[in-house]
Amino acid sequence: MFRRHRRLRKNSYIRDMVRETTLSPNDFIYPLFVVEGINIKKEIPSLPNNYHYSLDRLPEVISEINDAGVKGIILFGIPDYKDEIGSSAFDENGIIQKAIRKIREIDKDLFIITDVCMCEYTSHGHCGIIHDGYVDNDETLKYIGKIALSHAKAGADMIAPSDMMDGRIEEIRTTLDENGYKNVSIMAYSAKYCSAFYGPFRDAADSAPKFGDRKSYQMDPANAREAMLEIEDDIEEGADVIMVKPALAYLDILRTAKNRFDVPVAAYSVSGEYSMIKAGAKMGWIDEKAIALESLLSIKRAGADMIITYYALEASKWLK
Ligand code: PBG
Repeated sequence: MFRRHRRLRKNSYIRDMVRETTLSPNDFIYPLFVVEGINIKKEIPSLPNNYHYSLDRLPEVISEINDAGVKGIILFGIPDYKDEIGSSAFDENGIIQKAIRKIREIDKDLFIITDVCMCEYTSHGHCGIIHDGYVDNDETLKYIGKIALSHAKAGADMIAPSDMMDGRIEEIRTTLDENGYKNVSIMAYSAKYCSAFYGPFRDAADSAPKFGDRKSYQMDPANAREAMLEIEDDIEEGADVIMVKPALAYLDILRTAKNRFDVPVAAYSVSGEYSMIKAGAKMGWIDEKAIALESLLSIKRAGADMIITYYALEASKWLK
């Protein structure tokens, strides 16, 4: 005798009762791009419906975020000034530091995560300090610690380093603790792959490397076992949350990480994942809402406890 699986698919009532995975605005973290200047709300061409905001225009997006029911943002800054050591990244009056203080004034509860990396701030576009054409790991760590501390001082709730230097979590944890920021948490971009899916973001953040590529620090897309080692080290060094990035092409990594580690797992559904759906929808070839929600659901099903997505606001509205 065969099993009648269709019994539990009979109508929406029973389907609603047996559903294993659901999406809610609580799952989403919205990436927010801030720029210097005044009265700027400029659409990012490669990320339709996402914008560069100057600080004076933040109140309107914060209220959209609140209306959508989204609780967390991850901040990215586009500075006016870049140099070899990315000094605007740790400047007390840098774009991110000012943005954090401004957002705190507008909304004291919104959960502010900051991306800690140097590529948007360095003249060469790499995620660290260059020595002889190579990103110097240990030299970079000192800067990563400084950047993280400046974000914490400005009022960030959580620090998310995306540079992929070895030992950065330990460096950040120690720096934060020594300076009285024991309660600022860390979300580690642990398994961050060297991915072509970041293409549209590099437009948005003007952060493409001016020479070479990121293969000597970001992970090889072919490797799964190595991701577990990266994650294990980050947890040991003090990460509160670990991340897999990108999401859709790396669902296997997400699932393995989820099964193996007892910390919350974040997934970053990156710019290319978003832009492909937007482009397909614009061509009229796919149903944007259905595809976006199905993609997000698959990321959650694969094990993500939270998803950084450019769809955060749109998806939250669709879910209402
Ligand atoms: C900075 C950083 C990148 C992304 C997040 N933080 C770009 C990169 O590593 O090249 C990518 C995000 C996206 O594509 O949505 N290092």
